[in-house]
Amino acid sequence: MMENGKEYYLREDVYFEPLFNSWYAWPYLIPPVTAARYVSKTHKRIMKSFVNNSKLHVLANKENVLTGSEFLDASENQVDVVKTLIDKIEHDLPVIEDLSQAIDKLEEVLRGHISGESIEYLYERIPDILRGYVELHMDLNHNVSYRLIEPLLYQSDLYQKSLQSVSFGLLDASLKRPFVFSTPRLADDAHIQIQLDFTSDDLDLLLTSRDVAVSGEKLNEIFHSYPTCGGLGHARLFTEDKPEGQRLEPGTNEISLRFVGHAGFLLQTDDVAILVDPLIANKDSENRDKIFSYADLPQKIDYICLTHNHQDHINLETLLQLRHRTDLVLVPKNNGGSLPDPSMRLILQTLGFKVRELDDMEQLGLNSGSITAIPFLGEHGDLNVRSKCAWLLKIHGKALFMGADSSNIDQRLYEHLKKLIGKVDVLALGMECVGAPYTWLYGALHTETPSRKIRESRRLNGSDFEQAKMMINAFGPSQVYIYALGQEHWYAHLMGINYEDDSRQITETQRTLEYCQEAGIPAENLVGRRELQL
Ligand SMILES: [Fe+2]
Ligand SMILES: [Fe+2]
Repeated sequence: MMENGKEYYLREDVYFEPLFNSWYAWPYLIPPVTAARYVSKTHKRIMKSFVNNSKLHVLANKENVLTGSEFLDASENQVDVVKTLIDKIEHDLPVIEDLSQAIDKLEEVLRGHISGESIEYLYERIPDILRGYVELHMDLNHNVSYRLIEPLLYQSDLYQKSLQSVSFGLLDASLKRPFVFSTPRLADDAHIQIQLDFTSDDLDLLLTSRDVAVSGEKLNEIFHSYPTCGGLGHARLFTEDKPEGQRLEPGTNEISLRFVGHAGFLLQTDDVAILVDPLIANKDSENRDKIFSYADLPQKIDYICLTHNHQDHINLETLLQLRHRTDLVLVPKNNGGSLPDPSMRLILQTLGFKVRELDDMEQLGLNSGSITAIPFLGEHGDLNVRSKCAWLLKIHGKALFMGADSSNIDQRLYEHLKKLIGKVDVLALGMECVGAPYTWLYGALHTETPSRKIRESRRLNGSDFEQAKMMINAFGPSQVYIYALGQEHWYAHLMGINYEDDSRQITETQRTLEYCQEAGIPAENLVGRRELQL
């Protein structure tokens, strides 16, 4: 219990995880239809495999090389708990199972229409649960497909806010956070889970206590008002000590630039604070001098710019903790209604953010410059995913190009852009040039498993050395930063990557740095945290 009359802050070493049906909530678990696919396909498959062969899963998790694969990271005495989660999906969540099966059925119906003639008669064959939520259409080559009416789905019973909950745990060197795509969050002695949905005011208040003190009375009341589980007492999460941070305070006409980990940059002037792709870690005794955390970020964030809909770039864990400090989130525009490309705007609006979409080359004016969405090629396994852009930030005459995982698969794009953008001062490039097969992330959305050949050839690749070199030559930047490789071990639960010195992502990065050095361009591989000079 916390004492009445005293005020408390969330401890710096407390980590927060949003959950959907006991699994780490990444953005595809928010739209009803994609959520149904991942729960009914991926989650169930992994959990069943664990129940049937827990020894193998336990062994595999001891092997570092298997990081990022589908081995559930729990102990053999947790088999029964996992069985309960499977039973829940199969018996208590008819909407999830029905929605997922409805997609299989719908696609089967559409595959059968090959005449190229009118598809109006097919509406009657749309599975009932989806009727009124889809429009059928054909492309100019008479291929039939469908569009989900996403805004309507969020306002229906198919959007199940009741499956959202949150977990708090204490970082501890002896406990690692399991990989988010392989392991449900089990309510053990190291965690407390509380049945709060992501838009709850009480959740906001809990998360606000990262930087604003909340009374012990109020905190006790929240933890007693909702069902909780797990052995960690809520009093262990809070402290009377305000977390100490190093906030930036740029003077007039000054620009401060910070690398805040993974693909995250903080750009600040005396009148604007912009965060790009924040993935904010929590401080523990080991990493506290290597990272910037919540107390090091500005009290008010004007813009959060997100590059694409991958879990390490639109990180709900981070975003929910920044929601009360953020004015506007900028996201790339998408096509609307496609299963593999749910709207980032709708996901975040549903979660209570103020959001604006920017189309390719669309610009938002600032007092001292502008923010422009720049086309982003590749890195999505050739799926028709439009929800991706790089960001060009122009402030006080400086231009910063945040490329994220853009893969330079057509150099001509950058030649066109160079003419429009002009001189680039900072070029930041993601170089995870050997990404996972695209089914690693999107497999649950398929109704028929693609062949091995297809899976292996279509990967989530960022730029390699040759592609990076061409971008560097096109833009002639004053500084180059390579980033977003997932080298920080405190992001292992999200990245599922384990590099060796000779991993291609590392050697291609090294070649790029050497190339820049020979060309006289200052360049660095950013890991952890850095104060940068413009
Ligand atoms: Fe990505
Ligand atoms: Fe990434």
